[in-house]
Formats: sequence, C-alpha cells, structure tokens
Amino acid sequence: MRVGVLTGGGDCPGLNAVIRAIVRKGERHYDDQLYGFIDGWRGVVEKDFVELDVESLRGVLPRGGTVIGTSRLTPFMMDDGLDKVRSTIDSMNLDGIIAIGGEGTLSCAEELCKLGFPIVGVPKTIDNDIDLTERTFGFDTAVAIATEAIDRLHTTAESHNRVMVVEVMGRHVGHIAMWAGIAGGSTVTLIPEEPFDIDEVCQTLERRHQRGKYASIVVVAEGARPKPGTLEMAKEELDQFGHVRLGGIANQIAVEIEERMGYETRVTILGHIQRGGSPTAYDRVLSTWFGTEAIDAVHDEAWGDMVALQANRVVRVRMADAVAALKTVNPQLWGVAQDFFA
Ligand code: F6P
Repeated sequence: MRVGVLTGGGDCPGLNAVIRAIVRKGERHYDDQLYGFIDGWRGVVEKDFVELDVESLRGVLPRGGTVIGTSRLTPFMMDDGLDKVRSTIDSMNLDGIIAIGGEGTLSCAEELCKLGFPIVGVPKTIDNDIDLTERTFGFDTAVAIATEAIDRLHTTAESHNRVMVVEVMGRHVGHIAMWAGIAGGSTVTLIPEEPFDIDEVCQTLERRHQRGKYASIVVVAEGARPKPGTLEMAKEELDQFGHVRLGGIANQIAVEIEERMGYETRVTILGHIQRGGSPTAYDRVLSTWFGTEAIDAVHDEAWGDMVALQANRVVRVRMADAVAALKTVNPQLWGVAQDFFA
C-alpha cells in the first residue's frame, strides 16, 4: 500500500516513535511505501512530503518533537483545501493517511472521513484529554517533567519558607496537574474540572502553616478557573485559530495568596518544557504500540477508526466517538488527590 503520515497540533514526546513504528511495520511486514507530509495538514494540501523509510528514521525513537513538522492548520481553513487534499491523494496514488494528533487534528480527520477520505487516527497529546483511550502518549513524559520540577521546588520552598505556585499545561482538563500534584506531594492542586475558591485555597495553606509547616506547593492547571464571582480574571487572549491562549493563572493566584496571607510566594510556569525533549520509556512503548496498530488498521481499511488503549490492550474505536467530548479527570483519583490537601 501507499500510505501518508502526518503529525498535527502541538508537538509531543513520542511522535517520532509512532512514525518509526508505522514505517518499520509498513516497510518490513507489508512492503508499503510511506510518505511523511510536512507540517501536518498543510503538507497534504500543498503536496509537500518526504519519503519515509527505515533508514531515514534511524535514531529517532528517543527524540522529542516530530521529524516531519507539525502545524495547527486544517484543509478547512485553506482555500480549496478539500479539493487539494483530494488531488494530493489521487496524484500520489495513496491508499490511506494516518493522522497523528490531538482533538483538533482528529476532529479534522473525522470530518474528512465523513467526506470519504481514507484516514486512520492516532491520539497524541500531553494533555491526555482524548476520550475512549486511557492514555495518550506524551502524557507520561509531561507528568515526569512536572513531578521533577515540583521535587526541586520543594527544597527551595522549605529553605525559604515560601509558597511555590507551579503552573502546568493541560488546556481544559487537569490530568497533568492531578498526577503531578499527587506524585509531587502538592499542598493543594487546582484543576479546570473543579472551579476553585481562593479563600478556600488560602485556608488550606493556613491549616498547614498552623501545623508548623511554612512551605507549600500549589499546583495549578493552566485552565483552572475560580468559582463564579470569587475572583476577577485577567482577560483571555485568543490565538490565530481562535483557541484561548492559556497560561498565567499562577501569577494571579500568587498575588492573591501573598496579599491575603502575607506569605512569601513565587511562581514557576513550566510551559513548553513539559512537552520538549525525550519521551519516557512508557511513552516510547505506547507510541510504538499505537504505530503498529495504526498501520494494521490501514491494511484493514478501517477508515474513521482511531487506535486506543483500553484495559491494557490497544484497540480501535470510532474517531467520531473519541472526539465527541474531552476526557476529564478520573473522579476516584481526584478524590485521592484531595485526601492529601493539607
Ligand atoms: O495541547 C497541548 C498543549 O501543550 C496544551 O497543554 C497547551 O495549552 C497548548 O498545547 C499550548 O499550545 P501552543 O504550543 O500553541 O502554545
């Protein structure tokens, strides 16, 4: 078969491992010809691609980012986008495309499938917010980086008797914050799924200080929001695709803690460090597993399917179902996180 591969949305540790797995199994097992579209859907629309083979991908397994580039563009945003996608597929004589991406990329893939394009999806995002898969690759790496950062901040917090507010990514869900908060032993964690009351946050810190612990770690997800009417928020900016540009809530929370409590408070915003660099062993394995299943799905012409991890098996689900709603935090585990708030 002749198969195109693209990576869309934000970069993510494990993307290269997925590409490598698709190419390795495609070439060695199926005798496929594989092509990598440059910068996601833009490469499909503009017929900008490279040939991919086992040799050209030597050494990419542990490398972060994506060797074929990524963007948030979709054919629906580009002039004659759909006609150009059709023309690329026809002129390259492609049998199918594997789209590796998060909610935006997979929603676009799903729309294209409805129009008859032959696409299989692979869920990617450090945010872990794609439904019907227990994990997306990249998440484990992001949690490991955030946890290491929290471990380091503990020592400064303790030495200076400070409150350290750590902001992590995750967009509209709190998976990274919750996991890193539990793993790093946060004093309190704030997630988008549960709007916070800044008075209650301060009371939690106060309880800890009354017990003689003057150092605290507050982990806040970038998408965390106060309960309505409890705290005025800075105006939100939109990026060029109309997505809210998140980041910075930690600064507001730190100001409130310092003003209300008088505790010396510092802010660390981890930002893109969380999705840079080498994937963890877990993410390399999951990426490899997803990649091999995705090329199998192409050979089964399972268009519109997305590979997914469920009950320790890689399975296929309908992309339409997976992108219908974001996967929010596991309430049971969130209960565990709350049990440890000071
Ligand atoms: O979806 C992954 C993610 O890293 C989010 O956690 C974050 O809000 C967003 O992408 C940042 O996007 P950008 O790289 O465009 O700033």
